[in-house]
Amino acid sequence: MSKKLFIPGPIEVAPEILEAMATPMIGHRMPEYARLHKGVTDKLKELLFTREKVFLATSSAFGVMEGAVRNLVGKRCANFCNGAFSDKWHDVTRRCGKEADAIKVEWGEPITPELVDATLASGKYDAITLIHNETSTGVMSPLPEIAAVLRKYPDVVSIIDTVSSMSAVKIPLDELGIDCCIFGVQKAFALPPGLAVFTASNKALERCKTIEGRGYYFDFLEFAAADEKDNTPSTPCISLIYALDRQLERIFAEGFEKRWQRHRELAEYVRGWVSERGFGFLAAEPYRSLTLTCAVNSRDIDLAELKKRLGERNYAFDNGYGKLKGKTFRIAHMGDMQLADLQDFTGQIDDILKSMA
Ligand SMILES: Cc1ncc(COP(=O)(O)O)c(C=O)c1O
Repeated sequence: MSKKLFIPGPIEVAPEILEAMATPMIGHRMPEYARLHKGVTDKLKELLFTREKVFLATSSAFGVMEGAVRNLVGKRCANFCNGAFSDKWHDVTRRCGKEADAIKVEWGEPITPELVDATLASGKYDAITLIHNETSTGVMSPLPEIAAVLRKYPDVVSIIDTVSSMSAVKIPLDELGIDCCIFGVQKAFALPPGLAVFTASNKALERCKTIEGRGYYFDFLEFAAADEKDNTPSTPCISLIYALDRQLERIFAEGFEKRWQRHRELAEYVRGWVSERGFGFLAAEPYRSLTLTCAVNSRDIDLAELKKRLGERNYAFDNGYGKLKGKTFRIAHMGDMQLADLQDFTGQIDDILKSMA
């Protein structure tokens, strides 16, 4: 029997989505695919509040995160680092042969607009990478305030990872002026992994034209050329795109406001449970993530044992990421989850903890 997922991605996938993935196959150069592609990218533009280009890439998020630095960093990149995924993005930027600096704060801290301003004021950088919602630490950095600072630096291209926040909170890309936004679909979209979505502003595409060594698979200009025909440069994961199409219909049927509100309510419920049970939070307010909670194991519970016992009951539990393993645990509250799912999960934890005390 499969485990019900409460880890911060992949997230539990609805049977209706799995059914959509079983749609009979089509060729990606057939008109049927162009119709599917256009329908999906048009809906995504509405959800992302953008009129810029939206592209579909067959890879996990890091494929495009690597592609973005290859396409968009000319002079030097400022990688803002406040957790495992942002640290890794700096490493990836360097591995792509780019000049880059890691602008680090402690894990659990947000990236602040003041830090972004102070970094860019040096004039050294023509690109930044920033993770909106650091999934390893449960920190959501203040994107609107950071975006306001970025407007002071029109020569800097902003590359923003919204992997674990997009669709759960409002992120109006054009209003914020984000040049390249990247996310995978296995988090708040609650789809199986393997598809990444990214956007590119005109400014980003102009930058690409000046950059050598963009490679092929993630060359943004190849994506832009294919997009003219509602297509992708290489064979896409068509089954996942059918699933995304169905999920977007469900997101539109729920309504954006209701979806954001549901995510706020789920976050409030989990935070309430965490404090009532005497655990702490890695992040301070107002930077706690709305899609997952990273609780500090202040009761010194044997989290590996808790994970094992939950596993025996067919629930997947996360006992901390990287250097935070055992010291924190993370509960996801995103995607299609409802309050009753989280009440059930926390009830199971309560039940097990009684016998572990
Ligand atoms: C914020 C964030 N960025 C990037 C990634 C990496 O994504 P992927 O494993 O899809 O490449 C993750 C994965 O959990 C993530 O949470």
